[in-house]
Amino acid sequence: MHKTGWRIEPAPNLLMISDYFEKSFGRKPTNTAYAPGRIEFIGNHTDYNGGEVLGAAVNRGITVAVAPNNLEVIRFASPFIEGIIEIPVEGFTKQEGSASSANYPLGMVSIMRDEGYPVTGGFDFADSSNLPSGAGLSSSAAIELATAYALAGMHGLTIDRKKMALMGRRAENEFVGMPCGILDQGVSAFGHLDSLVHIDCFTEEFSTVAMPAGCHFWIFNTNKKHALVDGSYEDRFRECSEAFEILKAGGQDAACLAHIEPDAVRNAAAELGEVRMKRALHVTEENRRVRQAVTSLAQGDLQKVGQLLCASHNSSQHLFENSIAELDYLAKHIAPLKGVYGARLTGGGWGGAVMALTDETFSDQNEDLQKVLEAYHKEYGLESTVFHATAGDGATLLGE
Ligand code: GLA
Repeated sequence: MHKTGWRIEPAPNLLMISDYFEKSFGRKPTNTAYAPGRIEFIGNHTDYNGGEVLGAAVNRGITVAVAPNNLEVIRFASPFIEGIIEIPVEGFTKQEGSASSANYPLGMVSIMRDEGYPVTGGFDFADSSNLPSGAGLSSSAAIELATAYALAGMHGLTIDRKKMALMGRRAENEFVGMPCGILDQGVSAFGHLDSLVHIDCFTEEFSTVAMPAGCHFWIFNTNKKHALVDGSYEDRFRECSEAFEILKAGGQDAACLAHIEPDAVRNAAAELGEVRMKRALHVTEENRRVRQAVTSLAQGDLQKVGQLLCASHNSSQHLFENSIAELDYLAKHIAPLKGVYGARLTGGGWGGAVMALTDETFSDQNEDLQKVLEAYHKEYGLESTVFHATAGDGATLLGE
């Protein structure tokens, strides 16, 4: 069928990572690892506020290959950078410009060492991805986790999933400089076939919740790139911290913002001021939606789950203000389509993708969907890319 203004995004084959490594460095890697991207199912900006979140590892991700090189440098080869980047293995700092994509693996090296793991000596590194970047599907967490697994393999270290996820977050917070929570790394590490990952970000407990049979995820990339490092993410992080401090000073005895009751936030409207009140209301209500979603999933009540997804988007749009017109357009017009339970922005916001939860009758051949995507193209001049995602397993060492 002829499509205008949008297209299905096929999963590019992950490069045969050993061959790519060999082409780049003239020998085979010693270790390879894979980590998936993730969908944020529900729980928007709850993670760094001590709340709960549900996510799914998707069936697309990043592979990394490594081998020691007996040099005092790390050499990086990636289809996304021209040539090979060389960085001294000791005393490196955060990279700027064209080498900045090396910051995720470099951050992992730095944090693994800080945690006492003997990640020493120069090595060669190659990666390959079939995850769209800038779509809010966490390619950065995937590269962090794949790097950690490959390096652990190379040094004969056994590190559990939780530690891997926490080190990934530290790399992001302390080396890359993005004050994210544990959602992305936690889901990439704990992903499980046909399941959602539930994270209690306060206790840092990870578990899986089975998806009812017949549910599907569809991703609609706005193709409006998001940039969280330089964007408004830090502002929201700060606004939430300030709101929590004000609520505590006003007598709230909670350990984190997400644990405060939404009514207590409303009652403190005058002290908080409008902006902080909206942010805090989003976080506290969203946290309740995550809990309701867990219950509704267990009951198989997908209509209710869909309503929660739509309410989450609405809250992002009006209270947290991390949505943009393109995301609002897609969420609003896709949610009512036949076979769709609900739709919402997935991930940090300010660009990226909308995720829809659907039944098995929904497909890209749905004529009403095609009309929505064509109208989106006319309205915003952007071609949405669409793909069907399934919930897959988490990060893993592939081989030696
Ligand atoms: C980004 C961050 C996550 C989380 C989401 C919003 O993906 O990396 O830690 O805060 O935004 O829920």
